[in-house]
Amino acid sequence: MRVGILTGGGDCPGLNAVIRAAVRKGERAYGDELIGFLDAWDGVRDRRTTPLTVESMRGMLPRGGTVLGTRRGSPFDTPDGVDQVKQTLHDLGIDALMVIGGNGSLSIACRLHSDHGLPVIGVPKTIDNDIEGTDLTFGFTTAVQIATDAIDRLHTTAESHDRVMVVEVMGRHTGWIATHAGIAGGATAVLIPEIPFDIDELCARLTRRHDRGRFASIVVVAEGAEPEPGTLEMEEKIYDRFGHVVLGGVATRIATTIAQRTGFETRVVQLGHVQRGGTPTAFDRVLSTRFGVAAIDAVHEQAWGKMVVLRGDKIELEDLTVAVGKTRTVDRELFDNVASHFFA
Ligand code: F6P
Repeated sequence: MRVGILTGGGDCPGLNAVIRAAVRKGERAYGDELIGFLDAWDGVRDRRTTPLTVESMRGMLPRGGTVLGTRRGSPFDTPDGVDQVKQTLHDLGIDALMVIGGNGSLSIACRLHSDHGLPVIGVPKTIDNDIEGTDLTFGFTTAVQIATDAIDRLHTTAESHDRVMVVEVMGRHTGWIATHAGIAGGATAVLIPEIPFDIDELCARLTRRHDRGRFASIVVVAEGAEPEPGTLEMEEKIYDRFGHVVLGGVATRIATTIAQRTGFETRVVQLGHVQRGGTPTAFDRVLSTRFGVAAIDAVHEQAWGKMVVLRGDKIELEDLTVAVGKTRTVDRELFDNVASHFFA
């Protein structure tokens, strides 16, 4: 078969490992020809492709980013976008399209299959770990490890200066990275988008802790965290050209308020895209490899409209519709019964 592959949305450690695995099994076990579309749907529209072979993917397992490049944007954004996708697949003789992406890309893949009958297989990707239908997405444990390493380092400098460090991690709609890194790094408090925070309660908690003789605290905040309505004025939201809120900066607002209300010296660390760069953890390399193998197997089962998922320790197939329009929020049992006992 001729199989097209694209990576869409934000990049994520493990993308190259998925591509490599699909190419290795596709070429060696099935005799497939694999073709990469460059820059996501832009490359499909403009027919910018690159051959993907076992040889060309050599050395790519530990490499961050994506060899195919990635973009946001959708063929549904323009009136003739879907026709262009169909025409490209037809003209290049593509029998199947593997879409490796987050919520946005998987929704596009789902519509292309359900409304236009295209032979599509999805592979869920995001460091945010917020895709419904899979227990984990690859890239997540890498981001958690990077955030945890940062928190470990911040403890010593915070203690030396008796400071409150407010660490902003990624997490647009959910606090998976914040919760896991907060537990792993021994944070004082973790603020996540799922639970609006109360700045007064946070300041009181920090004051109680400092009254007990602890003069350094680490507050981990997910970039999408929001205050309880009416409790803290936030800056006006800015949107990018795809209608996504441009996040980043909530930690600064929180840190300034903590400093004003408690008098504690406070500093901000915004980890940003460091969490998405560089080599994947061993766990993410294994998960990505398993997803890549399962995705090319799914192509040969003609399981169109499905995505590969992790359930327990098994890789399974799930309908793309399960992921569309939903967000997998933080496990409240983990947050309420495990994490919050250690945040003090
Ligand atoms: O969805 C993954 C993610 O890393 C979010 O956590 C973050 O809000 C967003 O991507 C950042 O996107 P960009 O690369 O466009 O700044």
